[in-house]
Amino acid sequence: MTALDVGGPEFAERAAAMTARLAELAAGHGEALAGGGKKYQDRHRARGKLAARERIELLLDPDTPFLELSPLAGWGSDYTTGASLVTGIGVIEGTECVVTANDPTVRGGSSNPWTLKKALRANEIAFANRLPVVSLVESGGADLPSQKDIFIPGGALFRDLTRLSAAGIPTVAVVFGNSTAGGAYIPGMSDHVIMVKERAKVFLGGPPLVKMATGEDSDDESLGGADMHARISGLADHFALDEPDALRTARRVVARLNIRKPGPGPRLDPAPPLFDAADLLGVVPGDLRTPFDPREVIVRIADGSAFDEFKPLYGPSLATGWAEVHGYPVGILANAQGVLFSAESQKAAQFIQLANQRDIPLLFLHNTTGYMVGRQYEQGGIIKHGAMMINAVSNSRVPHISVLMGASYGAGHYGMCGRAFEPRFLFSWPSAKSAVMGPSQLAGVLSIVARQSAAARGLPYDEEADAGLRAAVEQQIEAESLPMFLSGRLYDDGVIDPRDTRTVLGLCLSAVHGAPVEGARGGFGVFRM
Ligand code: COA
Repeated sequence: MTALDVGGPEFAERAAAMTARLAELAAGHGEALAGGGKKYQDRHRARGKLAARERIELLLDPDTPFLELSPLAGWGSDYTTGASLVTGIGVIEGTECVVTANDPTVRGGSSNPWTLKKALRANEIAFANRLPVVSLVESGGADLPSQKDIFIPGGALFRDLTRLSAAGIPTVAVVFGNSTAGGAYIPGMSDHVIMVKERAKVFLGGPPLVKMATGEDSDDESLGGADMHARISGLADHFALDEPDALRTARRVVARLNIRKPGPGPRLDPAPPLFDAADLLGVVPGDLRTPFDPREVIVRIADGSAFDEFKPLYGPSLATGWAEVHGYPVGILANAQGVLFSAESQKAAQFIQLANQRDIPLLFLHNTTGYMVGRQYEQGGIIKHGAMMINAVSNSRVPHISVLMGASYGAGHYGMCGRAFEPRFLFSWPSAKSAVMGPSQLAGVLSIVARQSAAARGLPYDEEADAGLRAAVEQQIEAESLPMFLSGRLYDDGVIDPRDTRTVLGLCLSAVHGAPVEGARGGFGVFRM
């Protein structure tokens, strides 16, 4: 069942490369944890306030996991990694919820373009999986210098809260501090509101703005304090004495939401895999042109390592088959030799339809350089067959989860349910790379095009400049293909340690079962035969 030689030199080399990448990833996560840095953390604490992650910890059931989402948002940009917001899925009084928490140590918890993207992604996850949303609010509102990039699209945050409410998905706001102007609509649009005594400040305009606008003299407390909102305006449903009291109250609110998952629940006591998850460190080669067998991954994440393959002899470059992960059934599509040919594409389309008929979620394990090019393949109909697979992925209604293990290039990224195809969750391994094509191929294509263009104009071609340009382009594309860069831009939900894959998938599968799992019985586009 496994051909992985965990004592061999190849494994050691691959594991060493993965370990180095994990260290880079840990550094990135460290930046997110540091938030606004020591000065602002100390100041926050000196004010008697809890950090964003401490608030989350007190909110969740003791010793339950928190699946943090988009922790690297903003990485590699001018903004602080993490984007002054923590989001994720955790369990409160036995109910899985999407939790968001502003990090007030980063520019007063204000929202920049990445914060907005991250918050909107959290809302999407809440919608798709029917998970209640608990917002832990303390934010200076819009990051004012970036307002042009967030003011207009930012309205979607208010829209989402009320649409969640309309869809019967509960929303809870706990206000720990500043929540002015736009931020005031977070409690304003939420189903349940808790405010902390003498800390919450919820007003459309603070005292200086009121003075400017109307000439009225006022103070924070009478304009937007918790006491005022609990007794007079009615915006607060609960008046909390301090932060722990607010979090305790939030737990009671969630306990009374009467959330029951539609089912089906998982098989209880699933068998663990037969092979060690630690081996996943040494599966992916440093050079992604070397293929690896994704079954080595599957047997380390599937219950009892059991994988019943569908059509193993047909289209062997894509492995498809059935398994269970943490007691939930899944259909798995895993790239086995990188390239997708016509047979693989047709097999995928058929398999996706089967999963829809059986109401089984799909897991896509990416390591593809895309659909095969060349005369033989074009004449064999690779476009229409790839289109068939993309049609099936696009119109499939069962939940999809994607994990980028290695390459995820070109239309292959699409066919394997890339980000634009709205998988419920998409995580990357540190070994993943995603782009329109590989860096050297892309640089080569540019060079050929430039050479042809020069020839067409009858101009000599500057070989030296070409070599320099190729090297520069290759370097740029390589950097832009890396998972931390892509995660920084919110193109995934996080970069994970391969060893955590089964746990992360279990948490995701549990979350997706918050909504009914119902496949499409028809409703696909026209399959071009
Ligand atoms: N946009 C950009 N930067 C902001 C910001 C915002 N909305 N709010 C705060 N910051 C920055 C501050 O300039 C400061 O930067 P510095 O340390 O480099 O000088 C840092 O964040 C911390 O702010 P500070 O005022 O020292 O923190 P505080 O905890 O005492 O107060 C607020 C936090 C949010 C109450 C206060 O900063 C504030 O009122 N901000 C403006 C709120 C507002 O009017 N927003 C518009 C809403 S649409």
